[in-house]
Amino acid sequence: MAFEHPALPYPQDALSPHISAETMSYHYGKHHAGYVKKLNAYVASNPDLAGKSLESLLRERGGHYNNAAQIWNHTFYWNSMSPSGGGAPTGGIADAIDDAFGSFSDFRDKFSTTAAGQFGSGWGWLVKNASGNLEVIATADAGCPLTDGATPILTCDVWEHAYYVDYRNDRGSYIEAWWNLVNWDFANGNL
Ligand code: FE2
Repeated sequence: MAFEHPALPYPQDALSPHISAETMSYHYGKHHAGYVKKLNAYVASNPDLAGKSLESLLRERGGHYNNAAQIWNHTFYWNSMSPSGGGAPTGGIADAIDDAFGSFSDFRDKFSTTAAGQFGSGWGWLVKNASGNLEVIATADAGCPLTDGATPILTCDVWEHAYYVDYRNDRGSYIEAWWNLVNWDFANGNL
């Protein structure tokens, strides 16, 4: 059974003006779809992998890792945003952020600085680490925190394909815009 390209949780123009429909049509429709296509081709030529879940494939860190992780990371990224997102956190994640980082403002600064500072392609994450503590991290390329035993809470894609159409090389402005979209309900569900 081939892996499917998961449906977006909102229409492609729903995140505008922060992320345009044109970005979404390439990012979701070409990049994310491309990872699904490549992983399915890899699994088809490596029958020993047939029937394994996406999570188990990416945890194995084999030759299929980059495509498996990029599928997982992008699905998580779409869900980390919502047209009705943004603003200050609510619910349990608000208290957890205050406990771990002092305040939402301090967390926001740390997340933005970490995501902006990732050299080259990668991802900014809020995770619950293996010790159960909230942590802000960045991963390079396709890196997925699941491989380190962490529980992802939120992510921001900082590959250029996520922002070049709308913000050219200005990753910082893209990250600032991303805060208008953060899906705190999703974060609470992951906590
Ligand atoms: Fe991406």
